[in-house]
Amino acid sequence: EKDQLILGIETSCDETAAAVIKNGTEILSNAVASQIESHKRFGGVVPEIASRHHVEQMTIVLEEALTQAGITYEDIDAIAVTEGPGLVGALLIGVNAAKAIAFAHNIPLVGVHHIAGHIYANRLVTELKFPSLSLVVSGGHTELVLMEAHGEFTVIGETRDDAAGEAYDKVARTLNLPYPGGPHIDRLAHEGTPGLNLPRAWLEGTYDFSFSGLKSAVINTLHNAEQRGEKIEPAVLAASFQESVIDVLVTKTLRAAKAYHVRQVMLAGGVAANKGLRAALSGAFEEFTDVELVIPPLYLCTDNAAMIGAAGSMLFQKGKRSSLALNGNPGLDI
Ligand code: KG4
Ligand code: ZN
Repeated sequence: EKDQLILGIETSCDETAAAVIKNGTEILSNAVASQIESHKRFGGVVPEIASRHHVEQMTIVLEEALTQAGITYEDIDAIAVTEGPGLVGALLIGVNAAKAIAFAHNIPLVGVHHIAGHIYANRLVTELKFPSLSLVVSGGHTELVLMEAHGEFTVIGETRDDAAGEAYDKVARTLNLPYPGGPHIDRLAHEGTPGLNLPRAWLEGTYDFSFSGLKSAVINTLHNAEQRGEKIEPAVLAASFQESVIDVLVTKTLRAAKAYHVRQVMLAGGVAANKGLRAALSGAFEEFTDVELVIPPLYLCTDNAAMIGAAGSMLFQKGKRSSLALNGNPGLDI
């Protein structure tokens, strides 16, 4: 039987990415143009700048993905593109590029939810086993997603305010660390011990999260110390903040895994790069020998198009086709 080749495209935030995926599981190419340098001096992603960069980079990245994979558009079975959620102007660049290629070469088009992509990054590492639970933690999302079968996503818990990555970035900003702050806090946290008692929002009886109270507590702690003329070690603050975030993420993931009798727990999204989170999850699931914990390599955790290709492959297999009326949808539900 002929191999299935999917071209994945991702432009929902500040990464312009294209990738070619074979049979839903094998990466033939994975091109990513990051814009981090352009947004750094603003301390966060500037939507208008993101859109402009996507316009400039899209064709270059597409060319790179095809060349690396050694194929042309004629070899492709379907184009998978992130249709949402994300920045609307950014999404539109990828969606329009995908539609143009689909129309010009008469290739089927499949719209993909960005979070489905993050979850399916795991399929590039292992086979999915159902029921499967994903902890999706990124700059825009903090969700626990249950799957009973391929393509069937149920959000059982989500953040009520800030996303985990957002909290990391905001705390980093108050410590004058560069954007994105997550990796810097992560590094600092390992240089200090968590001496400050920061709050944890348990929201008992739910699998929901809340990080805005923690973020405010960090800012207040710094501010109060400053007013007293005291100095708080950034490493101690980072370690305390990280401990609080990880404690809630891991505890709720563990509870949900038990309650839903899942066979697999997968970590997804940019915050999955966090060393402390990886270690804590591994520790928590060590004794659950019948639950497989999957933690993808870093390059598959941050935004990329390989994950969109992987999710698109599954959706295409299930019969999903998007029309040329496909539009970017910043508030798309999974
Ligand atoms: O998935 P992603 O690349 O983009 C979104 O879809 O949001 O995630 C980016 C987020 C940023 O908030 C960044 O600070 C965070 O992931 N991040 C980390 C780490 N590496 C990236 N957060 C904590 N620890 C890290 N090591
Ligand atoms: Zn993402």
